[in-house]
Amino acid sequence: RLVSMTDMLNKALAEKYAVGQFNINNLEWTQAILQAAQEEKSPVILGASEGAVKYMGGFTVVSAMVNALLEEMDITVPVALHLDHGSSFDTCKAAIDAGFSSVMIDHSHDPIEDNISFTKKVVEYAHSKGASVEAEIGTVGGEEDGVVGGVMYADKEECKRIVDEAGIDALAAALGSVHGDYDGEPKLGFDEMKEISELTGAPLVLHGGSGIPTHQIEKAIEYGHAKINVNTELQQVWAKRTREVIATNEKVYDPRKIIGPGKADITETTKAKMREFGSSNKA
Ligand code: G3H
Ligand code: ZN
Repeated sequence: RLVSMTDMLNKALAEKYAVGQFNINNLEWTQAILQAAQEEKSPVILGASEGAVKYMGGFTVVSAMVNALLEEMDITVPVALHLDHGSSFDTCKAAIDAGFSSVMIDHSHDPIEDNISFTKKVVEYAHSKGASVEAEIGTVGGEEDGVVGGVMYADKEECKRIVDEAGIDALAAALGSVHGDYDGEPKLGFDEMKEISELTGAPLVLHGGSGIPTHQIEKAIEYGHAKINVNTELQQVWAKRTREVIATNEKVYDPRKIIGPGKADITETTKAKMREFGSSNKA
């Protein structure tokens, strides 16, 4: 019942809203995000990084958990299960073989020729299995794939080439966004964004969606972003609640009473993002 991102993102691009990718860490996270999507009648992309997949026990575990929850929770909105920042063909293939409906292949740190050829190989395999592919050009600030680095804006000609030559379904063109927690506002390159969107025609993906003010989110959607990735903000609201629970109840030891309450905060924050991104009632 999982679907690829292709139809959701093309519809979002045409109708000028964005579908959220919300990263999952465990069972509670997955339940909380699926509940938000169902309540908002919104399409949703569950993002799982390689680290999170390892933490949860592997691709087959994640895929089985998500599929079981779709059944048990009677989820009727479109849901994609997407490998976030996949580092190689082999990991992307393992994800797809386990039932992931979408992958990101991130060779953005390699020379453009390599980025295109590695991405093309993933696209050929993914498309033969009905899965969608996202690739990246440029560098998102903060930590990416365990590497902490500065922002590097995407080159528009490289963006055009990877869309045309590799045949990707979504393009993460890094234009000033930053992963993780940081002070102040990111300096997004809106002129470049508009140009890249018009040049490639591809649905654009905004990484580092946490901490971006609404007026910038709206402009990013206006200029071609159809997917926005959010991870850190959900972790922060969950951690805040969990700290409170432990701090105000010295005797609590039942793990369900410790990690459970923050689920509601994940759901509320996800719903607020869906409304902000305009994906509510688009399922
Ligand atoms: O790929 C994941 C996203 O880019 C998450 O970024 O943790 O800053 O929200 P974030
Ligand atoms: Zn990212």
